[in-house]
Amino acid sequence: MKSILITGAFGQLGIACSNILEPKFNIIKTGINADSGNDKLDVSSKKDVESFLNHHKPDIILNLAAITNVDGCEHDPEQADRVNREGVIHLCDGFDGHFIQLSTDYVFDGEDGPYLEDDTTNPMSIYGKTKLEAETYLINSKVNHTIIRTNVVYSYAPETKASFLKWVVQSLKDSKSINVVSDQWNNPTSADSLAGFIQKIVLSETYGLYHYADQGLMSRYEFAKLIAKIFKLDPDLIKPILTSELSQAASRPLKSGLVTQKIQKELSIVPPTVETSLIQIHDSINT
Ligand SMILES: NC(=O)c1ccc[n+]([C@@H]2O[C@H](COP(=O)([O-])OP(=O)(O)OC[C@H]3O[C@@H](n4cnc5c(N)ncnc54)[C@H](OP(=O)(O)O)[C@@H]3O)[C@@H](O)[C@H]2O)c1
Repeated sequence: MKSILITGAFGQLGIACSNILEPKFNIIKTGINADSGNDKLDVSSKKDVESFLNHHKPDIILNLAAITNVDGCEHDPEQADRVNREGVIHLCDGFDGHFIQLSTDYVFDGEDGPYLEDDTTNPMSIYGKTKLEAETYLINSKVNHTIIRTNVVYSYAPETKASFLKWVVQSLKDSKSINVVSDQWNNPTSADSLAGFIQKIVLSETYGLYHYADQGLMSRYEFAKLIAKIFKLDPDLIKPILTSELSQAASRPLKSGLVTQKIQKELSIVPPTVETSLIQIHDSINT
């Protein structure tokens, strides 16, 4: 049985990937704050990564470790660089298996999305810049790699800490009114849908740069309204707001989103619609 080292395994996507990959692979789950039974691995430590890889010798590395707090990256760019860029370099040093890296639509400026894989990148934030630098490192390296760009990943798993879906559902259940941006466009992607795609990439040993996102370009406000519809909650509690009203530290790509025609054409993979993924989650927690 092949072994997969998952870094950042206790984050939103790590939980979904572990669940789907566990029956078929020997999974080595690691995190920055790993608890008993799981390994701690800080990808920003060259020494720790080196000794971990020498000891475990995984066949595949699925690198999900990242500083994903976009505003936090503006406040601490050195730490963002240490984890999001240098972490990749540490993990690839001497590694000769399949390296899978998750990246983001934040590598684009959001002027004219949705984007194809070979559209011009122009990150507007430290997060986007560090993720793009990691991509560039991989592309110029000799490592057999797959870069998967995705956007607005959400999950309803009980262990997931921060999730847009959970926040919307919980707020509406509590009859709390919420403000949601109406000028950021993406195709929100279920962590389970993305984990299914990652499994296909692992099993087929596919290398290259691919966009994966569920189908249906919408503003975050429309996404929240769709969540309310599917979870049968009050949509009138959701109020539109503009990104400029939030005074966030990091610039967001506004007209963003990812076109997935490359995976459809080359790999015959068709992602589900955003609505289908939401219905699946709703039905799985209400049965
Ligand atoms: N979420 C999205 O919308 C989205 C969109 C596009 C791309 N992505 C990419 O998808 C991947 C997975 O994201 P996610 O949604 O699962 O985010 P997440 O829930 O924030 O998971 C990232 C994990 O990395 C851990 N981590 C942070 N610093 C680390 C370090 N130095 N060493 C090891 N682990 C560290 C975090 O631990 P702590 O939580 O304890 O800090 C967290 O468990 C990331 O590469 C992200 O850039 C995510």
